[in-house]
Amino acid sequence: MRLDKYLADRGIGTRSEVKEIVRKGRVSVNGTVVKDSGAAVSEADSVSVDGKALGGIAELTKKHWFMLNKPAGTVSANSDERDATVIDIFGKEGLKGLFTVGRLDKDTEGLLLVCDDGEMSHYLLSPSRSVEKTYFARVDGLLATDAAERLSNGIEFKDFVSRPAKLEILSEDTDNNTCEVLVTVCEGRFHEVKRLIAAIGGNVTYLKRIAFGPLKLDAELKPGEYRTLTDEEIRALKAAVGKE
Ligand code: URA
Repeated sequence: MRLDKYLADRGIGTRSEVKEIVRKGRVSVNGTVVKDSGAAVSEADSVSVDGKALGGIAELTKKHWFMLNKPAGTVSANSDERDATVIDIFGKEGLKGLFTVGRLDKDTEGLLLVCDDGEMSHYLLSPSRSVEKTYFARVDGLLATDAAERLSNGIEFKDFVSRPAKLEILSEDTDNNTCEVLVTVCEGRFHEVKRLIAAIGGNVTYLKRIAFGPLKLDAELKPGEYRTLTDEEIRALKAAVGKE
């Protein structure tokens, strides 16, 4: 990689600004001042600006993966004119090119993966890989005894037939006509869980994603908090899409 691209990618400045920084002799490669912006730097090189070492190329090309407990009220987008986005939450990371792996509705909370790995994100969302997502829902209405069977058979909507989904009723409050359920789906359609529950006679009043493939929402994360995925978690995601 060219030295000026390396420095610009690290956020040192625009391509023309870093050329000027290099020209002034402020940049060293392996301890030697380099004034040629086009000089090639490789994984093994140690680059510093004004004596301050920057991470190696390996660090630069490494993908970044985060688990966010999405708070209600934020939109799963890179930018939005009206609402706060989940990507705004990552501002202090100073990383370019972060995006969400799929979307959650504005009022949905819970596990949302955020990364800069387009290839893996594509695999995780691909309908052919059928990665399961589990949601906890509070529902207005009591669900019929055949509700789980109807979801597992697939529901016919105007525009599609849902893939088999799993339903587990956690509790029922007959006085208030409400229940709490877990729903597991393996596709990612718009308002999917809310539409499935509506089709079996309920109305979702609260929705939280608690699992995405092999990953469970970290109970330590409060809404709005996030953490980096561990290497083991990234390996588990890769295994889930057959990309070990
Ligand atoms: N299904 C929904 O209805 N909403 C979400 O945010 C996610 C799944």
